[in-house]
Amino acid sequence: MQRKYPNLCKPIKIGNVNFRNRMFSAPMGGTDITADCTIGRASTAFYELRAKGGAASVTVSECVVHPETEGSHMYHLDLQTVGSLSSFTYTADAIRRHGAIASVELSHSGQYAGTYLTDKDKKHSLAQWGPSAGVRPDGLEVKELTEELIADIVAAYGNVAGLAKRAGFEMVMVHGGHGWLINQFLSPYFNHRTDKYGGSLENRVRFAREVLDSVRKAVGPGFPIEFRMSGSELFEGGYDLAEGVEIAKLLESQIDLLHISAGTYQRGFSITHPSMFVPHGSNVYLAAEIKKHVSVPVATIGGLNDPAMMEEIIASGKADVVEMARALLADHELPRKVMSNRDEDIVKCLRCFTCMAERAVTSTRRCTVNPFIGRELDGTEVVPSSQSRKVLVAGGGPGGLEAAITAAKRGHKVILCEKSDQLGGILKGEQAIPFKYEMYELGVTLGKLAKDAGVEIRLNTPVTKEYAETENADALIIAVGSEPLIPPIPGLAGDQVIVVNDYYLEMDKVSDQVVVLGGGLAGCEAAIHLAREGKTVHLVEMRTELAPDANIRHRPILLAEIDKSTIQVHTEYKGLRVTEEGVVCVDKAGEEHLVPGTTVICALGQRARRNVVEELIDCAPYVAQIGDCVCASTITTAIYQGYHAALDI
Ligand SMILES: Cc1cc2nc3c(=O)[nH]c(=O)nc-3n(C[C@H](O)[C@H](O)[C@H](O)COP(=O)(O)O)c2cc1C
Repeated sequence: MQRKYPNLCKPIKIGNVNFRNRMFSAPMGGTDITADCTIGRASTAFYELRAKGGAASVTVSECVVHPETEGSHMYHLDLQTVGSLSSFTYTADAIRRHGAIASVELSHSGQYAGTYLTDKDKKHSLAQWGPSAGVRPDGLEVKELTEELIADIVAAYGNVAGLAKRAGFEMVMVHGGHGWLINQFLSPYFNHRTDKYGGSLENRVRFAREVLDSVRKAVGPGFPIEFRMSGSELFEGGYDLAEGVEIAKLLESQIDLLHISAGTYQRGFSITHPSMFVPHGSNVYLAAEIKKHVSVPVATIGGLNDPAMMEEIIASGKADVVEMARALLADHELPRKVMSNRDEDIVKCLRCFTCMAERAVTSTRRCTVNPFIGRELDGTEVVPSSQSRKVLVAGGGPGGLEAAITAAKRGHKVILCEKSDQLGGILKGEQAIPFKYEMYELGVTLGKLAKDAGVEIRLNTPVTKEYAETENADALIIAVGSEPLIPPIPGLAGDQVIVVNDYYLEMDKVSDQVVVLGGGLAGCEAAIHLAREGKTVHLVEMRTELAPDANIRHRPILLAEIDKSTIQVHTEYKGLRVTEEGVVCVDKAGEEHLVPGTTVICALGQRARRNVVEELIDCAPYVAQIGDCVCASTITTAIYQGYHAALDI
């Protein structure tokens, strides 16, 4: 078979171990850790799904090595607690039985111990240890590690690596990046020691070298050690790429795979986890530069999800391996689809940060576009129904499409009706905003998957009561979505006003002076886009804050984008009337202001199409209502409800 992406699909030998392709599943963790620090069953199932999806290696994340100085160990995996070895063994087994190499990430948070606690107040009862004493930005005191404690930690890395090998792991990843302990030693920003572990670069690298020696002694020659490091810390005072190259050169003799990530969790979250506002592959340059100076294989990571881009990275020698985290949440079968030339079927990550936000807020695994994530134990195979039914789906947005695909996979005869001439629902509106293009693509991909699954798609077909009754389906899934909220503000029906959902249809009408009315998520993102287009943008919001409903990971990044743009923000401004000169608003003191602009983008929210639901509610024996037509909400809700409505038929 001629593989479309031959370099990506090519096996690689690292140490004495053969990997089936170049697509590795990067560590993703911090959830489903039992009270005694073992891997919960749901996590084992999560990692297993990655292996089943075709990744060459699956790294279990973060296992603490030295709880005595880590502080946050009650929320970390710990191979040294009673009973944990068996959980690690079952997990390694679950990964290996699908042909992937099982790896485990060995980690120490150092002065940032406690970061992952959902109850941040608990941090105050923990001990924070770093290379140097100091006070963290959140006011917590950091104690300097003594040489005795350093020796203990170094020994602990070896001990835990040995246990991981005993549990059946065939590789270990030493986490030396993202601002955690090893990174803190490498960094001139965190490390102010004057002993042999501080000062010169050789001294700052010493701790990492001792750790790697200790791990090597425990696992023996040929056992692959992957070292994850940030190619550059990418903040003022941290080490830069030139030093990153030197660090890599000093370490390469002790490792088998150099994994080049970027930035630090605490001081550059959206660099380490590239947000939708930066181009895909924005960190590849770091790996590419370092690769020129070392002879060990190099891996790259960060916002990668396009097989063509990943193929080019490997073909052009920028890296030997590509690693993905979020892309494999969105579609755990991505590697498999690449291997079988089915890349058009890949459901791409939206970089919406639902995953990381849920992890931080509820300690659960979630993905907007993949209903299985976090629920793998509930079953990931769609089981055919014992009886094939006629299913009518009203609405071709993400929820309706997910329902239709799942129902068709269960063997039902599915008709999906969409009232407009295109699938995708509300996602259609995202096609004109480059950093949200993947949301639009989601609708396109789901549409293709629905057709491939045998769904009969009828465009330009609104489902009315009469229509549904004539179809006489056994099951009706109402997924008719929401419509823009347009309050009775005088002038809002004017020609210069464009509803944000229709922006993609009326882009040419937008003048150079724009008022975006509504500072929710859609309004903020539209404003950022328009400012990037060189327009003068005023953003008007009635509430005190912008996008209060955005998730806790995306929101700060969104606000930072607004801060660094030219957008003029007016919070606590209420729109009174729209005129040819702009929007007349009233502030909280009751004073009127003209916010100038010759185009107005109306982004005042969405309202569930309850009238359609009410019309259709009695039109079949089984009726489910899903997504925005229940209550204007998220893509996550629509997809999840769509999937389950189909399972419930
Ligand atoms: C839900 C989630 C959990 C993560 N947990 C860890 C972790 O425990 N250890 C770690 O080193 N990196 C962790 N990461 C970072 C990823 O390994 C990766 O470096 C980052 O997400 C950038 O890759 P991506 O753009 O492919 O997602 C996590 C990322 C996500 C999305």
